[in-house]
Amino acid sequence: MPTVRFYSGECEYEIEVPSGTTVMRAAVDNGVPGIDGDCNGECACATCHIYVDPAWLSKTGERPSTEEELLNFASAAEPNSRLACQIQITHALDGLRVRIPDSQH
Ligand code: FES
Repeated sequence: MPTVRFYSGECEYEIEVPSGTTVMRAAVDNGVPGIDGDCNGECACATCHIYVDPAWLSKTGERPSTEEELLNFASAAEPNSRLACQIQITHALDGLRVRIPDSQH
């Protein structure tokens, strides 16, 4: 199964999940702190904001316009910001590295 690595402050979490799982679901279902996922992946809350490691940006693809608009409400959004519920982990993303913001609000 593919893995995703979450970085939060000085902590690192390596989570193995079935292909097709979203990055948000991987975090929430495995107790990774800092990703809330309040809308349960409906792209409506921005509480699953993450920063994709620049080395992985080309593989995670471009942000759709709906995600772009929602990220305007996220605190401290950066060019590599994404909503974790909008990225599905596949074998092509095995080893994906993402950083969790200090706050989702
Ligand atoms: S879980 Fe709400 S936007 Fe991702």
